[in-house]
Amino acid sequence: MNKALKNIISGKITKEDILSLLILDDAFEVYKAADKIRREYVGDEVQVREIIEISNYCKQKCLYCGLQSQNKKLKRYRMTPDEVVDRVRWSIPLGYKTVVLQSGEDDYWTDEIVCDIVKKIKEMDFAVTLSFGEKSYDTYKKYRDAGTDRYLLKHETCDKELYKYLDPGMSFENRIQCQKNLKDLGIQVGSGIMIGLPGQTLDSIADDIMLFYEMDYDMIGISPFIPHQDTEIGNSHSGDVDLVRKAVAVTRIILKDVHLPVTTAFSTLNEREGKLLMLASGANVIMPNITPMEYREMYEIYPNKDSKDIEPFVYKEKLLALLKDAGRSISTSYGHRIKH
Ligand code: 5AD
Repeated sequence: MNKALKNIISGKITKEDILSLLILDDAFEVYKAADKIRREYVGDEVQVREIIEISNYCKQKCLYCGLQSQNKKLKRYRMTPDEVVDRVRWSIPLGYKTVVLQSGEDDYWTDEIVCDIVKKIKEMDFAVTLSFGEKSYDTYKKYRDAGTDRYLLKHETCDKELYKYLDPGMSFENRIQCQKNLKDLGIQVGSGIMIGLPGQTLDSIADDIMLFYEMDYDMIGISPFIPHQDTEIGNSHSGDVDLVRKAVAVTRIILKDVHLPVTTAFSTLNEREGKLLMLASGANVIMPNITPMEYREMYEIYPNKDSKDIEPFVYKEKLLALLKDAGRSISTSYGHRIKH
């Protein structure tokens, strides 16, 4: 077996070994090891988390994202709080036990409004994940007290200079502080990165994986960067899907019981085949989009998002068929991380 792989499996984690796995031309052994560890630690059940994109207003200016405030071409929408709660109620027959609410950084969603929505959803017996960006400790505390179980806030890249360039007015340090605050409050934290950002190095991706290990995140989404035509870096190339797959596999081997989604961006570049590959190389989470159809086109973080025209009940049928082919089943639990 590859020596670096052996080291990492045995718990000797170094950046050098991670890097040497990321540059492998043939990573079959790494995928196989990740698949085995995935089965041992999180089993054959796939965690299914429905996601509702509740608003595409955003005050941030991230150069990679189609929702950036400077994108004047994008038509903006915002669901009403009642619409959000009603959509979750509507989704009950789908049978998923956990819902993610995501929005651009939109100040319409005051603590009071968010907490009221969370409480109403908790009454319907769902685990709740929020993904609303950087907020104060106090706000996260209110979210938690209302019943929020998890929060998604990817660190995107640990290259501080690149971060400053791509996220004007924001900082890597503050991002990590937000994640630490969430963790402190007992909220499960989802982080993640994009792969293939212009100027990003392999070396920094190895650092990202070291950071996953140090921060011991509960969920980690690793996506290829997909350029959006109406952004400053819209002429760049998409991220390398094989590198994404290697990064997911290495992350599984290192963090063992972590939740790793088949990211929508990965499926966008690779559709059905891609989902099967990821599920066989360490991934154990799929996030079906249940945003009302009339808003889908407008939540354009990047173009041609996978399955964006597929109605949720139709998607569920497709998902069941896919999981059957992969020899996997749908989890009926709330999908909390179970630490080993
Ligand atoms: N390509 C891929 N992923 C993107 N995100 C934002 N813009 C892009 C893009 N162009 C991801 C970020 C963010 C999440 C909501 O979407 O990682 O955290």
